[in-house]
Amino acid sequence: MWTSARLRESFLAFFEEKDHLRLPSSSLIPVNDPTLLLIGAGMAPFKSYFRGEEKPPHVRITTCQKCVRADDSNVGVTARHHTFFEMLGNFSFGDYFKKESIEWAWEYLTERLNLDPNRLWVTIYPGDMVAFNHWNKDVGVPAERISELEDNFWGPIGATGPCGPCSEIYYDRGEGPWWCGRTECAPGCNCDRYLEIWNLVFTGLNKEEDGSFSDLPRPCIDTGAGLDRITFLMQGKNNPYETDAFQPAMLALKEFSGHTLDEGGRVALALKIIGDHTRAVIFLLADGISPSNEGRGYVLRRLLRRAMRFGRVLGIHGTFLEKLVPAFVAVYGEIYPELATRELHVTNVLIQEQQNFLRTLEQGEHLLQSLLQASTPLSGTDVFRLYDTYGFPHELTQEIAAERGIQIDLDGFHKALEEARERSRADLEKKLDDARGGTIAVSHEQPSEFLGYQRTGAHAHVVHLFRQGMEVDEAHEGEGASVILDRTPFYAEGGGQVGDTGIFKSGELLVEVLDTQKGPHDTIVHRVEIRRGSLKKGAELEAIVDAKRRGDIMRHHTATHLLQAALRTVVGAHITQTGSLVAPDRLRFDFSHYAPLTPEQIETVERLVNEEVLRNQAVDKREMSMSEATAAGALAFFEEKYADRVRVVTVENFSKELCGGTHCARTGDIGLFKITSESAIAAGQRRIEAVCGMVALEAVRTYENILKTVSQDLKTTPTEIPGSLSRLKESLKRTERQVEELGEKLSAQRAGDLVSESVEVGGVKLLATEVPGVTSDGLSRLGDQLRDKLQSGIVLLGTRNGEGAKLMCWVTKDLVGRGYSAGNVIKAVIPTIGGKGGGRPEFAQGGGNKPDALSQALTEAKSLISRQAEG
Ligand code: ALA
Repeated sequence: MWTSARLRESFLAFFEEKDHLRLPSSSLIPVNDPTLLLIGAGMAPFKSYFRGEEKPPHVRITTCQKCVRADDSNVGVTARHHTFFEMLGNFSFGDYFKKESIEWAWEYLTERLNLDPNRLWVTIYPGDMVAFNHWNKDVGVPAERISELEDNFWGPIGATGPCGPCSEIYYDRGEGPWWCGRTECAPGCNCDRYLEIWNLVFTGLNKEEDGSFSDLPRPCIDTGAGLDRITFLMQGKNNPYETDAFQPAMLALKEFSGHTLDEGGRVALALKIIGDHTRAVIFLLADGISPSNEGRGYVLRRLLRRAMRFGRVLGIHGTFLEKLVPAFVAVYGEIYPELATRELHVTNVLIQEQQNFLRTLEQGEHLLQSLLQASTPLSGTDVFRLYDTYGFPHELTQEIAAERGIQIDLDGFHKALEEARERSRADLEKKLDDARGGTIAVSHEQPSEFLGYQRTGAHAHVVHLFRQGMEVDEAHEGEGASVILDRTPFYAEGGGQVGDTGIFKSGELLVEVLDTQKGPHDTIVHRVEIRRGSLKKGAELEAIVDAKRRGDIMRHHTATHLLQAALRTVVGAHITQTGSLVAPDRLRFDFSHYAPLTPEQIETVERLVNEEVLRNQAVDKREMSMSEATAAGALAFFEEKYADRVRVVTVENFSKELCGGTHCARTGDIGLFKITSESAIAAGQRRIEAVCGMVALEAVRTYENILKTVSQDLKTTPTEIPGSLSRLKESLKRTERQVEELGEKLSAQRAGDLVSESVEVGGVKLLATEVPGVTSDGLSRLGDQLRDKLQSGIVLLGTRNGEGAKLMCWVTKDLVGRGYSAGNVIKAVIPTIGGKGGGRPEFAQGGGNKPDALSQALTEAKSLISRQAEG
């Protein structure tokens, strides 16, 4: 059988025969590409190869790339759409062009997969006669099966990037239930008869930020074929959910819901959506993305919640998505090892996130119920609030409202949603703008030679000089500039390690280097300010890194490696780095793990690292090929893009990582290592912060000083602080009890005094007065006593506290029976003191910010009650 695994392999092997380099799929998280949220096409990781900004490892590449396209509206409805899918592709970076890409695609489909050539149709970009001729003359597709399609122009993915006219290959599935039945149905129709199986893009253009198109340095090829589509076609199934890729998941769903695809209708739709979305969620989690309310995390969260919502259609109300994990790991675990190694993590986060959602649903349900009582139909803002605050998908709100026969204002909801999106788009654009402010264009390729592994000072020449993004010949005293040297000991920020600082000097000239960043074409850009003299293009100077700061950075970097190794020993090999910061004064290590570390685990990790420091091991750094590094078991950080030759940093028998950063010579150089905090940064994401060397000593000193100050205050020694504190707490409790007793006595006395101030209006005893200097508690206690003393009557007490005022009202039961209400009194007079309030008929209270109007409010209340009593 043509299993999905066999198809994937056959495609990649076919192009290997055609001299393509097979590369593994990149992570779903784009690297160095702020314009993209997620990888959504095979070409997306290669944008800089197309644009000639970076040299590809080979001019022909083939991949099977994990992709996510977050629009889910067609999922389950057509046989063609998925949120997560694998795109098979072959790429040419300035090598072959239309002819070969067309001939090879045809050869693969008709000779390897043996698809019937008479069922294959082709579309081309209007007027692309070159493509037409290749299809018609070289390959032999009859002219009547080649048509022009206006939208055969692909890309760019994201706002800018490589794009070009394209040509699609369709397979005619014939007149089945999938067909729309129209005689004019043809490739490009929305129904599932003509199945697009492969898109060949003749990538010759780049879309620029201003919307214009420019030529790429060399024409390229980018093709994409959906593995799910080819699989169901080759297996003779109706849709991908019936293939070997989804069958285990469908079986698992059947096991605990009892439902199968055969039932059709809404049940089948739900099964498909759950299958599709859960697969996507699992892949996103395995790539280190955590559920959140923005960006990628939100895509993940939304898919998960939508899958759960469709669980209701199958009668499932608890958590269940985690039950599909083993099914997908069985299908994909070998080709995508991140799925297998992170199965436990994925399962745990899935369970947690579902439980979170069930809880928010419960909370949201209260709000929804009260909204449903109050307004009909439900306003767009309310639907949006449910969605935004409680993660309530609007479809769910609609479903629940419909059960009560209430409509919701969908247009209003979409408007509110659009406004919120607009706000976040503006945010993103601002971030991109900020990033662009610092970008510079280097017109020719001359990488900077990095000397910083061996030394911190060197003589060098100024190759480029920029001011505000423009190339200049000279920068003067007091000005800021960006400088590229031919060689430099300055480390550019990367791999979590901050950029170096230091100076350039030469004779009179003194330049301060404030930061160092990576530039285009492997250049190193120094952000500087000229302190004395002028800096000229071509000048020779001495570049000197702040060596003390660099030493501190190296300590923290090597310590980060030891920390990761210790965590894997103590917590488990499933933990994966999701981010890091290495600075002179601290390190931060983010990793995925589903639970907080216990104090014992933290202590053990800290101890293991310090033991490695004391062993004073050599830190070995060497270059090797990526495959040697992988074979040696070196850890790679998935957000990083690695070249063919990689640098591996090893502490024998303890840690081995791919890393381009600068490191200590021996672990002993780290000095003391101290963890300062361990915290959660998102569901399933932890962060450890730590310090090394003198900074660690400083940290310990700070703790010590705090202890000293506290012990001096307590007039005891540091070791006796705990005993001293618990005695203090005891005595505080006793004092509080006494205060309370005294308060009771005082208020009983006051109550005795005040009760005489009550007046009779229309047969109702009324006591309305201001009580100075009481807390809210005191006021409420006093009121209770007065009410009891009056037996039948109304008590209204007010007090001022700081900037505000407080009013409380009590009405005895018998009077409530006669229609008096404390709630009404408070509601009527509270605006006078500038506030809001209300409550039950027996008791109500409120506060406001106009204490000076308190006596007026009391008077108003009195006359309100008199009117009711006398009227
Ligand atoms: N990049 C092309 C696509 O995604 C192949 O369809």
